[in-house]
Amino acid sequence: MTRKNAVDVKKWNAEYQWQPFADPNAVANDKPLIIESGKGSIVYDIDGKEYIDGQGGLWNVNAGHGRKEIIDAITEQLNQLQFYSLFGGTTHSRSIELSKLLVDMTAEEGMKRVFFSTGGSEAVETALKLARQYWKLNGQAQRTKIISLQRAYHGVGYGGLSANGTPAFRRMFEPLMSGFFRVESPYFYRNPFTDDPSELARICAMMLERTIIDQSPDTVAAFIAEPIQGAGGIIVPPAEYWRLVREVCDKYGVLLIADEVVTGFGRTGSLFGSRLWGVKPDMMIFAKGINSGYVPLGATMFNDRIEQAFKDHPDAGFMHGNTYLAHPLACAAAIANLDMVVKEGLAQNAGEVGTYFISRLAELGHRQKHVGEVRGRGLMIGVELVADKPTKTRFADSDYFGHCVARRCRDNGVLIRNVYDTFIISPPLILTKAQVDRMVEVMEEALTYQTGVFAGK
Ligand SMILES: Cc1ncc(COP(=O)(O)O)c(C=O)c1O
Repeated sequence: MTRKNAVDVKKWNAEYQWQPFADPNAVANDKPLIIESGKGSIVYDIDGKEYIDGQGGLWNVNAGHGRKEIIDAITEQLNQLQFYSLFGGTTHSRSIELSKLLVDMTAEEGMKRVFFSTGGSEAVETALKLARQYWKLNGQAQRTKIISLQRAYHGVGYGGLSANGTPAFRRMFEPLMSGFFRVESPYFYRNPFTDDPSELARICAMMLERTIIDQSPDTVAAFIAEPIQGAGGIIVPPAEYWRLVREVCDKYGVLLIADEVVTGFGRTGSLFGSRLWGVKPDMMIFAKGINSGYVPLGATMFNDRIEQAFKDHPDAGFMHGNTYLAHPLACAAAIANLDMVVKEGLAQNAGEVGTYFISRLAELGHRQKHVGEVRGRGLMIGVELVADKPTKTRFADSDYFGHCVARRCRDNGVLIRNVYDTFIISPPLILTKAQVDRMVEVMEEALTYQTGVFAGK
């Protein structure tokens, strides 16, 4: 189906609008691809050209594009009630049903309550505010500090940005919030300490402990981290890491917040990233896969420990929230989506197809001189590109190596995201092995081509 005003839309593209996380000058010379429609793991551009959606939208379209069950749930809700507020003594049925469903689904992690928002960044701000209020209600108002990981991504609010571990994302908006500290990330491929993953887990947990001690434990409110770091480059921690982190947090009473915006609801092959590591955080943060991106939604969940601090306390009022939190359409979409996640076994499929994908990419990595490492869990996969494999030397920014490979993949019908020369592969969880084969074929051709261009420079 071609859009009637396609000529105008193409002309107006990037003329009136700025793109997120982008240099407007660069965008002017490299206009964004206009995606027009989608079905399952496939999307089509404005000219009708077909692509495998290796990005899964923005690692959120877990159930796939155009799923009738979700569209029907949204439409039914739209016809019944398009909006009502949760402020000042009202609510609506879909938010109540979804809160029960979420608490049931996270029973293993001990989550007791949910506070909704409209996306990941807001859900992070909610968690940080809850952490600070928790300590105030507990009579330890001086516990305000937040510790996070290098290379962390926790959204774009000032709290989440202050916890962000990528200097380039922070630089232009400093000064950020005070009282935020970062510790070493368990990034095995580039760690300077050890070639034993278990040892790295111990070292990184020890560094967290030393930072807590250095800051004085009675001033530290919480440690926040992604169960697998996503935007920072798909950093899968050693298996022991999260258990050790939980022990350190417990030793000093520090709250543990798991940012599951990407890892939540099946992407890693486990229903939750925390479950993958067998850890019970004090809070879990969700967005993206909660309703596969059909309508914006975020959720911050917390356990009994936090709930109890607010119980019958004179200062228990949580003075936070915004108009569109728990939007009825978003909640209806989430209920339908989570039903599919369970009934269609999307976590299992992500695990199975992801394992196949990683093994195919690992073979490709042996053949390709610029593939430094292939890593990931389920359908959360990273391919780190390097200029020189033995020394792990990075490409210069001016080489645009990863960018050019990703663009060639796009030209050949595969969308993958390149973030600082690491491909982030995060397709819908319904991806098939045949689609994996096609993606690997296209990636291999693009890598071979760009390797030739680079060699001839
Ligand atoms: C781990 C994590 N936390 C928070 C966010 C922010 O979510 P949103 O973009 O919905 O605000 C993201 C977004 O990618 C994320 O990956």
